[in-house]
Amino acid sequence: MLKLALVQALVGSALAGTVIWDGRFNEFSSSTDLNNWSWSNQVGPYQYYIHGSSPVTQYVNLSPSYKNPADTVSNQGVKISIDKTAYWNGQNMRRTELIPQTSAAINQGRVYYHFSVKRTNTNAPRADLEHQVNFFESHFTELKYGLLSGASGSSDPTLKWCVSGQTKWSVTFDADVWHNVAYDIDFSSNQVSFWHSTGSDPLVLTAGPFSVGTSSNGADWHLGVLRLPMNSDLQSSDVEDWYFSGVYVESGSLNTQIGSGVTPTTTRTTTTTTPVRTTTPSTTPVRTTTPSTTPSTTLRTTTTTARTTTPSTTRSTTPSTTPSTTRSTTAATTAATTPPATPPANKWGQCGGIGWTGATTCVDGSTCQALNPYYSQCL
Ligand SMILES: *[C@@H]1O[C@H](CO)[C@@H](O)[C@H](O)[C@H]1NC(C)=O
Repeated sequence: MLKLALVQALVGSALAGTVIWDGRFNEFSSSTDLNNWSWSNQVGPYQYYIHGSSPVTQYVNLSPSYKNPADTVSNQGVKISIDKTAYWNGQNMRRTELIPQTSAAINQGRVYYHFSVKRTNTNAPRADLEHQVNFFESHFTELKYGLLSGASGSSDPTLKWCVSGQTKWSVTFDADVWHNVAYDIDFSSNQVSFWHSTGSDPLVLTAGPFSVGTSSNGADWHLGVLRLPMNSDLQSSDVEDWYFSGVYVESGSLNTQIGSGVTPTTTRTTTTTTPVRTTTPSTTPVRTTTPSTTPSTTLRTTTTTARTTTPSTTRSTTPSTTPSTTRSTTAATTAATTPPATPPANKWGQCGGIGWTGATTCVDGSTCQALNPYYSQCL
C-alpha cells in the first residue's frame, strides 16, 4: 500500500515536467510591477517594452477575475488591451506584448508553452482584422484571430493555430470560453504540435506534429496581441481586451492538467476524466495516437510552484472593470531570475525597423541608426 503510494507519487512528479519559466503573475501586486523591468534593469519574469506610450494600466491589468477559474495555481490572470494609442516604435500595428525575461533554456530541446486565452463580449477583438497572438518572431507556432491578411471575405470569427502562416486548426472564438493551449515545440527535431482544451478539461493533442524551422533566441515569444492595420483606420476608437492566464514554459514531460488539475469550488469527483473533444476542427489532421512522452490523465500530486496562500478569488466570469486588485498575500516568490535576454545587437546587426521586435540597443562601440523605416542597424 505504502509502496504503491510512493510509486504513484514518483510517477506523478515525473509526469509533471519542470517549470523552467513561470509567467503566472503570482508575485505581481499589480501590472505596474512590469515597470520594474527596463533594458538596464532586467528584473522580474517579463520584459515590457512593446506597447503604446500611455501608462501600463492602459494596456495591461491583472485580476483574479481575469484567469481561467479552473487554474488553481495562478492567483490572477492578465487583461491585455490595444487601443488607438497602442502603437509602438512608430509602427502602424497595434501591439501590447510581454516577453519572457529569463536565461532558462526555453528555446532548446522539447518544451511546452502553456497558456489559457479567452475573450468576452466587452471590447471584443475585431474579426475583420488579422491578429497575431502569443507568437514567436519567426511565426513557426502561434495563434491568430480574425480575417487573415490577404484572405477573401470581410471577417473571420475563428481562432486559429498556425505554423509558418498555415492554419492547422481553428475554432470559433466564442465569448467567455477559456481555451487552454500548450505549444509543443521540439527545438532539436524541429517539430511542433498543438495541445488544446476548454474550461477545466485536460489538454489533448489536437494537431501535429509538423516539421518546421523552430527558431527562437529565447527572448522572442510574445505574450499578447499584435493587430495588423487595415486601410488607414489607425485612429479607430475601438478597444480590444484579451485575457490570458496560466502562462508558463515546461520541459520534460507535458502536464496536461489545467492548474493543479483540480477545479475549485465545484465538486468534481474526478481525476480520471477522459478528455472529451468538443470542438471539431475543420482542416485538422487529428492525431489519435498519443505520443510517447505523453502523460495521459494521471493525477498530479505535486505542483512545481509552492503556493502557500489561497487567493480569495472574486470570480465573476464577466470581468468587471476593476483591475488593480489589492492582494495582501505575499506569495512565495520565485526570486527574480538572472537577467540576460535580448542582449544588445552586435555591430552590423539589426536594432529596429517596422516589424522588428528584437534588440533595440547596440553593443558598445556602435550606435543604432535608422537606414529606412524598415531597417535600423548597429553602425
Ligand atoms: C517590483 O518592485 C517592487 C519594489 O521594489 C517590489 O516590491 C515588487 O515585488 C516588484 N515586482 C515584481 C513582480 O518583481
